[in-house]
Amino acid sequence: MKLPFFAGPIEFVLEPLSADDASQLPDLHAEDFQRPWAEHEFASLLDQPPVFGFAAWRVGNRKAGPAGFVLARLAAGEGEILTIAVARAYRRLGLGRDLMEAVLRELHAERAEALFLEVDENNRAAIALYRRLGFREVARRPAYYAHEDGPKSAALVMRRDLR
Ligand SMILES: CC(C)(COP(=O)(O)OP(=O)(O)OC[C@H]1O[C@@H](n2cnc3c(N)ncnc32)[C@H](O)[C@@H]1OP(=O)(O)O)[C@@H](O)C(=O)NCCC(=O)NCCS
Repeated sequence: MKLPFFAGPIEFVLEPLSADDASQLPDLHAEDFQRPWAEHEFASLLDQPPVFGFAAWRVGNRKAGPAGFVLARLAAGEGEILTIAVARAYRRLGLGRDLMEAVLRELHAERAEALFLEVDENNRAAIALYRRLGFREVARRPAYYAHEDGPKSAALVMRRDLR
């Protein structure tokens, strides 16, 4: 898990997250989410055993914070993606896919049956990533996400079978 790898021309390392990493996560989360999570929220999530996560760090530049991270939860045999973000500077290098695949490997090892997530119907990048990884839409929650500058959008519930 800790072997460095190249994504495009840049060297990264993928590592499991712990509560000690909580202070490094809010800045990147705030880039992309309207209600960013605070350090104490990440710390308390990562302190709960069903919650786990991974971060991609740029080799030799750890102080800059993670290039991307994912948090997931395993409960009653089913996994759920809680959040995933890749810094704008490192998108389309395969990091989102690598982070999701790390979660899928962990859930396989735990013999989970399926992985679920929710995504804004307008989030084309994330939906493309999830479809490519084998997720399929199983439900739609209308008017789920509020936006400062426009009408509410629906959440798609997506599922990936793990058996
Ligand atoms: C969604 C997100 C995590 C994807 O991360 P990423 O590292 O750029 O994704 P990857 O490079 O691993 O992309 C893998 C595949 O997903 C698809 N994909 C990713 N971004 C895409 C985009 N902007 N448009 C179309 N397809 C895209 C492509 O099939 C891509 O493969 P390719 O580059 O070989 O064509 C990133 O865009 C992000 O952080 N967005 C903001 C936060 C967010 O929306 N999180 C999801 C909330 S549910």
